[in-house]
Amino acid sequence: TGERSLASTLAAASAAAAAAAAAADAADVAGGGGRAAERPPSAQPERGALASQLPEWAALEAHAASLRDVHLRELLADTERSAALFVPHRTGERDGEIAADFSRHKLTKRTLELLVRLAEAMGLRGKLRGLFRGELMNGTERRPVLHTALRAAPSDGAVFVDGTDVMPEVLASRQRVADFARDVRSCRRVGCTGRPLRNVVVVGIGGSSLGPAFLYEALRATHLYEQLDGVQLRFLANIDELDAARAIAQLDAAETLVVITSKTFRTRETLINGCTLRTWLRTQLRGQASDEQIDSSHIAACTADAAAAERWGVSRALTFAFWEWVGGRFSVTSSVGQLPIALAFGPEVFDEFLQGARDIDRHCLTAPFERNLPVLMGLLGLWNLNFQNHTARAIFPYCEALWRLPAHVQQVEMESNGKRVSTHGRLLDFHAAEVTFGEPGTTGQHSFFQLLHMGQTVPADFIGFAQSPGELAFEHTAVALDGCAVSHHDELMANFFAQPDALARGCTAAELRALGVSDELVPHRTFPGDRPSTVLLMPRLTAFAVGQLLALYEHRTAVQGFVCGVNSFDQWGVELGKELAQEVRAQMRAARSSGEPPRCALPSTARLLARYLE
Ligand code: F6P
Repeated sequence: TGERSLASTLAAASAAAAAAAAAADAADVAGGGGRAAERPPSAQPERGALASQLPEWAALEAHAASLRDVHLRELLADTERSAALFVPHRTGERDGEIAADFSRHKLTKRTLELLVRLAEAMGLRGKLRGLFRGELMNGTERRPVLHTALRAAPSDGAVFVDGTDVMPEVLASRQRVADFARDVRSCRRVGCTGRPLRNVVVVGIGGSSLGPAFLYEALRATHLYEQLDGVQLRFLANIDELDAARAIAQLDAAETLVVITSKTFRTRETLINGCTLRTWLRTQLRGQASDEQIDSSHIAACTADAAAAERWGVSRALTFAFWEWVGGRFSVTSSVGQLPIALAFGPEVFDEFLQGARDIDRHCLTAPFERNLPVLMGLLGLWNLNFQNHTARAIFPYCEALWRLPAHVQQVEMESNGKRVSTHGRLLDFHAAEVTFGEPGTTGQHSFFQLLHMGQTVPADFIGFAQSPGELAFEHTAVALDGCAVSHHDELMANFFAQPDALARGCTAAELRALGVSDELVPHRTFPGDRPSTVLLMPRLTAFAVGQLLALYEHRTAVQGFVCGVNSFDQWGVELGKELAQEVRAQMRAARSSGEPPRCALPSTARLLARYLE
């Protein structure tokens, strides 16, 4: 069937679904609860149909229209609804509970039903299974996407890629990294002068840096206090030479291990930074060992291209595996995260992190969609983005240790779902990803929260912990302010609970007048409210909890991408800039050697470049 027949089939089904949904919504919003109207039969999505062409999408549009004039205040007054949207995730593990509260989203029970129907129509269950099973999920690069295999337990069974079970290799690599880290930590392996390796500089960018950096910062909060004499990590990502200078400032080369992390071993920033650090090591250690001895004791690599690393000069003995079927931004549970974290805190801490990720993997694969945290987070992302027209979203950990989480999730989500076509190459007529940003609370409150309360609506995730990781830092836990005993953590969490409410409830002109606010100031001090958020409350910041958070956001991204019908696992959008940089580089060289003005495709660029070369 051609496009026309597809369009007309879907249009007819859409109209029927939309009419039924609108009728049902009227009953639902009015507090009718149960739905009497029968669902119209959903058309089977034809191959290549966009999610937005499905009747389920049209039903959601009609439903969203029916909610337009309903304020979150009204919805939040319904205690039964709030209870139903409180979704606790419990595991057998200590400290493994996540209390997720979705009640502050502009939705009803009916919304969730419709979102789940869309997810089913887009084959979400099958796609999630396909991901875990190693099916070819990244069509444009002809690869499976198996970050879940990286944290699978030995008892989880085989995972096949091209007919070969990859688990023996995954487990062997995990063991090899753990052994290496133990050797370094116990000084069985030392630098070329016999000194212990106390500093690790991880050289990598994008997915080869953001995940491990987030993890290190998160775990440092609980583990640094226990081992102040442990291995310290630094991350060198940017090609700006200042970043390289910062990465090695005050380090003793004799005690430094450089880990070059690059899946492709072709990323220019990483290779140039790697060369700079190798030169630094050799210069600093000159006369104490040969260049070969220095390199083979102080430079390691995590890469999927061991041959390229070897050509560059990393010995095979210090090269750790990373596979083609692991996406860079999904690589933190591979050697990419394991090597630095096991060096810094020991392999057991990394194992605990893997267990947390595995816990959410299982939950994502098995829990019904209505109680499935990453599925709900992905569906609500889609709902806010395309049916409520909120094109940004924010992540606010009320936990300083998670300060790099927003940057990591930003890459995972925006590189994965920032796409313009479907997996079938059709132009999308909706968004598959939001603009993601974030900062820890409460510092963000004193920066950009003004806009969140009174400017655009930006749905937000608030992440908080019942227990402070920082309480290890001071012997006292409370101080006195204005005659009251206050603790840092209660203060932090008071804000954590207040902000989602302020966003949702707002403050009306009538309320302000009742408080005696002058008419002149009332418009300036009115908060519209009606701003959605998710609240995730967890017991304690442990390595297990960090693993859960990582997997939650990874799967949220995959869910949103699957339901949008995009390939979340390629990143062609980063290529054009790289190619143009190649041209600029060539022009820089040519202009410098010839003394002629640079020739660029755009006169604007030629003018700027000439100015730079001057
Ligand atoms: O340019 C984007 C990107 O390919 C990311 O997806 C990736 O995480 C990063 O560059 C680094 O790539 P590599 O690990 O191959 O050096």
